[in-house]
Amino acid sequence: MSYETIDVRKLTPTIGAEISGVDLSGQIGNRQFEEIHRALMENLVIFFRDQDLTVEQQKSFGSRFGKLHIHPNAPKMFPDHPEILTIKADAASKRVAGEVWHSDVSCDEEPPMGSILLIKEVPANGGGDTSFANMYAAYDALSDTMKRFLAGCTAVHASLKSANHQYRDKTADMRFPEAEHPVVRTHPETGRKALFVNRGFTTRIVGLEAFESDALLEMLFRHAEQSRFHCRFKWRDNSIAFWDNRATMHQAMWDYYPERRYGHRVTVCGDRPFPRA
Ligand code: SIN
Repeated sequence: MSYETIDVRKLTPTIGAEISGVDLSGQIGNRQFEEIHRALMENLVIFFRDQDLTVEQQKSFGSRFGKLHIHPNAPKMFPDHPEILTIKADAASKRVAGEVWHSDVSCDEEPPMGSILLIKEVPANGGGDTSFANMYAAYDALSDTMKRFLAGCTAVHASLKSANHQYRDKTADMRFPEAEHPVVRTHPETGRKALFVNRGFTTRIVGLEAFESDALLEMLFRHAEQSRFHCRFKWRDNSIAFWDNRATMHQAMWDYYPERRYGHRVTVCGDRPFPRA
């Protein structure tokens, strides 16, 4: 089906599309909202250029898709806007958010449906791209025998596996969630099956010996991290990426040290993953 209120240009045949013809700072009509939503479902991650949004405008756009998530332990740089997660790296950074392939906060009982990242400043001398993987395609490419085996499996996702938290000073108000999810989840809107493990958060497959779990997880991580399932987005100042965490994982490149990269993310709440429709 074609689009009437937006233009949609695919980044790769597998995942990702750039959307133009929309100003996200204003009120979006219902027809345009439905088409943006459809573009997200069809392409799994969508990109917008030249969207210099305030935090209020970014929150307002995110709220059209659902309740906004408050990160359990990320520093809150805007006390009046705890829903805004700041993404920042510069010469003083020891590490950056999202360097390891992950689906956002998959350690939550109800991991986020989607994330909307606005990069306001790109590094002065290039770098800082983000890659996204199509986890439907990663699932589809497995053998039928492996699909049958994984159908009954669940895995633990732990916040403390995330490198950012391992090195951070812990404070009393921080929470470090851990949750068990199906290894293959059914997308609640498209009904498609997606592989739902990621190197950033998934620690073990329940019911297997440690050596079995480690080997199987490493195989699945490497499988989904192959570039044939990816697109790679080159940011400009005031670009937005909106990805569906239920069907993708992503990785931020930190190849621009000591330059500065800065942006704001809002994250839309999701529901508990389930194995089949
Ligand atoms: C994230 O994981 O949300 C960060 C992605 C990025 O900085 O490109």
